[in-house]
Amino acid sequence: MVKRVWVIGIGPGGIDQVTVAAIRALNRVEVFLVPDKGAAKHDLVALREQICATYIDHDYRIIEVPDPERGPDAERSADQYAGGVRDWHRARADRYAELLTGLPEADAGFLVWGDPAFYDSTLRILDTLQADGLEFEVTVVPGISAIQLLAGEHRTVLNRIGQPIHITTGRRLVADYRAYGSDLGDLVVMLDGALTCRELRAEPLEIFWGAYLGAPEQVLRRGRLDAVIDEIVDLRARLRAAHGWIMDTYLLRPITPAGPTP
Ligand SMILES: C[S@@+](CC[C@H](N)C(=O)[O-])C[C@H]1O[C@@H](n2cnc3c(N)ncnc32)[C@H](O)[C@@H]1O
Repeated sequence: MVKRVWVIGIGPGGIDQVTVAAIRALNRVEVFLVPDKGAAKHDLVALREQICATYIDHDYRIIEVPDPERGPDAERSADQYAGGVRDWHRARADRYAELLTGLPEADAGFLVWGDPAFYDSTLRILDTLQADGLEFEVTVVPGISAIQLLAGEHRTVLNRIGQPIHITTGRRLVADYRAYGSDLGDLVVMLDGALTCRELRAEPLEIFWGAYLGAPEQVLRRGRLDAVIDEIVDLRARLRAAHGWIMDTYLLRPITPAGPTP
């Protein structure tokens, strides 16, 4: 049974976003568990392998763990979605429990895309395993998130002076905005395969969009939502078809009476 599990944020797209603390942690780990999400996302597994090969100077093993099937999220209600995610976490937890108990007394590691603090289930699953009685220590090494990279690549600050930042998902965006409007401050949207901001095109919003942030394929677009959203929708579909997968994040910023950010 492993003694310590390292949860290491590796940044959102390339070997350049790996922090020095992450490199130190990588060099403590003997076995990495990497979820394999199928052929289309094989690029993402390959990137993790490249990070290990670049920064680790001892022998290590990578175990690819096939991800359990996840339901058709887009067609589910909020309750069905939450239930589906819980079942999927449970199935993942069972797979990890089997692997971690079968390993020798070693340090194991999870390479988490971006930062473990944003929309990532690794820490929740490890909590479940500990609640089930498995005994191991957990160390978290934060990474650079797609959120920070989006702001940096667009050379912008996420919040207006003294105003909040609301981080949400495509699934929740429209309901959040209709309920609170510009009181939410600037909105950062992740996990939005449908670019649901289309439904807000009549609102006074500016969009800062980024796909494949940090990777050589990175693409950025920015402008008034109503003016650029059709182009972004079309571009996203073409990029997804060309690469077989896409990850994108965007910021929506209320346009003030003084106009969009210069
Ligand atoms: C499961 S969440 C993981 C977030 C990650 N933990 C982070 O800190 O960025 C996946 C979502 O993160 C965003 N994302 C991750 N990597 C990205 C990238 N390289 N470019 C743009 N968005 C990315 C997308 O919104 C994607 O749907």
